[in-house]
This record gives sequence, structure tokens and C-alpha cells, in this order.
Amino acid sequence: MLHSTLQRKEGGDLHMEQVSLEEIAQQYGTPVFVYSEAAIRSAYEAFDASLSMHPHNICYAVKANSNLSILQLLAEMGSGFDIVSGGELARVLRAGGDPSRVVFSGVGKQDWEIDLALEHEIGCFNVESASELDRIARVADVTGNVAPISIRVNPDVDPKTHPYISTGLKENKFGVSTDEAFDLYKKAAVTPSLRIVGIDCHIGSQITELTPFLDALTRVLALADKLADRAIEVDHIDLGGGIGVQYKDETPIDVGEFASAIGQAMSGRPQSLVFEPGRMIVANAGILLTRVNTLKSNEGKNFAVVDAAMNDLIRPALYSAWQDVVAVAETNAQAKTWDIVGPVCETGDFLAKDRHLAINEDDLVAVLSAGAYGFVMSSNYNSRPRAAEVMVSGDEHRVIRRRESIDDLFALESIRE
Ligand code: LLP
Repeated sequence: MLHSTLQRKEGGDLHMEQVSLEEIAQQYGTPVFVYSEAAIRSAYEAFDASLSMHPHNICYAVKANSNLSILQLLAEMGSGFDIVSGGELARVLRAGGDPSRVVFSGVGKQDWEIDLALEHEIGCFNVESASELDRIARVADVTGNVAPISIRVNPDVDPKTHPYISTGLKENKFGVSTDEAFDLYKKAAVTPSLRIVGIDCHIGSQITELTPFLDALTRVLALADKLADRAIEVDHIDLGGGIGVQYKDETPIDVGEFASAIGQAMSGRPQSLVFEPGRMIVANAGILLTRVNTLKSNEGKNFAVVDAAMNDLIRPALYSAWQDVVAVAETNAQAKTWDIVGPVCETGDFLAKDRHLAINEDDLVAVLSAGAYGFVMSSNYNSRPRAAEVMVSGDEHRVIRRRESIDDLFALESIRE
């Protein structure tokens, strides 16, 4: 089975660590995201340990899963954080994260977000354009601060991933060319409200090959050398996130191999490394547990309508992403090929297509690999309250975000009395 933390007890239902998924569904209802603490820990620790030969800072990409309990767990393990908004910074602070280990990415930072980040003395702004460099310098100057910066370089390498999640090609909106970055560094070096600390890049997501990372590093190091010739030194090289995971039959990059190749390219260099992994830390630590509501057949096609939908997990609809679906209990139902769909009024509302499953109405199914870009991308479309989130640890479980209520749906709205 894909998830190492899932096992089927003899003749019984699926368990995450030592907790029965049937029990979780009974206690918290469905749909519910369930995460394994052990899986998050081991993904983080494996990555951290493999990088031990070179000074490094792992800045978990908050966007992948920003639940406070997950951030707290990672903060306790010593992780830094990659944020893309003031809201994410507020989450990190609330969860006990160390702001000096925060890097702030994203193409459209607003003044209040820059202000908040300066106030909390974050580690680095990853600057995405000339205009943003000016904006950060201006905001810092007004408040008498000095902003630590990296320029995000677009190294123009093809990460060979889905076009919507590839970011390091020159036609993408992210970062600036290495030539422009050189000019921006020269400018930053003489701007009193800016302090150069690093060079940044991020080439895409769900990358399963090592070469694009090494190509990007080569280009970034060439820039570091060119800057050093001008007496502009950087303390760190940020290679972003993007290491892919196994959803189906992908062979993910071996983290040991990744670390040793990168370590070799960095050997003898004084700069430390920064990484911004999101998906690889949480994707395969989480599932979306949902109950079959209705089984129906139209024109020879079988549909299992479940109580989760595209508003809970949008990756299949948005990217045609494939995520495994398994029945929680073994039944004597006849196995058939099903499209697993939700109750939302859209043809695009599917979680999986053409899956061979033995299921009855009211059975539970688990959508795997749902720990990253699952709950965080959920919405209230069709006025569906968002799912609960539960953390499992050993034989214990606790709710880390309660299910939204009907009242929550319009708590922020008003009508004329
Ligand atoms: N750093 C930056 C600047 C990023 O833009 C991202 C992701 C990351 C780090 C983390 O990348 P990861 O290690 O998670 O691949 N919603 C899409 C993925 C979007 C990724 C956006 N940027 C999905 O569900 O596949």
C-alpha cells in the first residue's frame, strides 16, 4: 500500500498507525482529512538527516498544509517556514514557529504583509521583481528597518512536471532572469534599507527528476560567483521546494541521492542551503476519508457518489491529478469499475475515475495522498461546510480543525434586518 502508515487488520478495516478509520469516521463524521503524525515526522527527519553534510535550513512550505497543529509539530522538530502571505506568517507565529527562520516568497507582497514581516524580523524576503525590491526598500525605510533579501532567479530549466505547477521556465510569472537579478543585486547592495542574504529559486512542484534541480543550482552558483567578483556575498542558496512524491507509479527522487548530488555541487562553498519542501513532507501523511452515499449506473458507467467533493479536494478536477482510492473495509460486494464523484453540481466534480473497487452504499473509502494541497485548497462551493481534520499519533487521535457548521457558512455575511 502507498501509505506506509496504513494497514489492514486481519479481516477488518483499515487503520492509520494504530487507529481504526471506521472509528475516526464514527467519532468525527465524514468527509474528514486524517493525518499521521509519525509519517510527517519521518518525512521531515529523513530529509533533514540526508542533508546533514551541509549547513541547511528546511523551511516547510506552509501552503501545502497550513493547519496550526501541523505547523506546531514541524516547529517543534526544528523546521523553518516558507510563507507566501501575511496570513501564513500569522499562522507560523501562532504555532510557535521562529520568525528568524521564515522566508517570504510570492509575486505580489502587499505593504501590510511586508510591514508585518519586518516587525517580526523574518529571515528573508524572496524578491520576485524590480518593482517588489523597490517596494520592500521603501516600506523598510519608512519604518526604519533593514530588510534581509534574496532575489528569486528564474533559472529557465524545465522541471518536466504539470504545466500549472512548473514555475522555473522563462515564460512563467515567477522570479527574474539571472541577468536582471545581477542588476538588482547591484542596486540592493547600495540601498541602505536592504541587506543581501541569499539567492533564491523554485522551479516547480511534483518534480521526479534530479537533473532540473542540479541545472538550477549550476545557474544559481554561476550568479553567486559573478556577484562575488563584485564583492557581493550571499550567505545562503535557496533551492525552493518541488520534490515530488508517489501518487501512483512515479518513482520519486531518492532524498539521499538528491542531498549528496547537491552537497557535492556545494562542496567548498561557504553558503548554507535553504529548502522549501511542502508536498514531500505531508502529501503521503494524509488521507481524505469519505462515505459512499449513492451507487448508480448511467449508460453502463458506474458512479459512486461519496460525501466528499471537489470543494474538499480539488486536485483531480483542477489538474487531472490521480490519487489512489481504497475501500476501508473488505466486503463481499462484487468489485466493479467506478467513477468516484461528489454531490457538487458540476461534471468536473470527481475525485477519481475508473477505479476497481468492491463497495456498497454507506461504506467508507479513503482517498490517499491527500495531506498536501488538500484541505488548504478546499472551499465552501455549493454551501458545503468544510471537512474536519484529525491527527493520529500511535493509538491516539484528536481533532485539529473541527468540521464547519451550517452557522459558520454565513457567519461573516449580513442581510438587512
Ligand atoms: N516554494 C515556493 C516558492 C512554491 O511556490 C512552492 C509551491 C513550494 C515552495 C512548495 O512546493 P512543493 O515542495 O510542495 O512541491 N496546488 C498544486 C501545487 C502548487 C505548488 C505551488 N508552489 C498541487 O496540488 O499539485
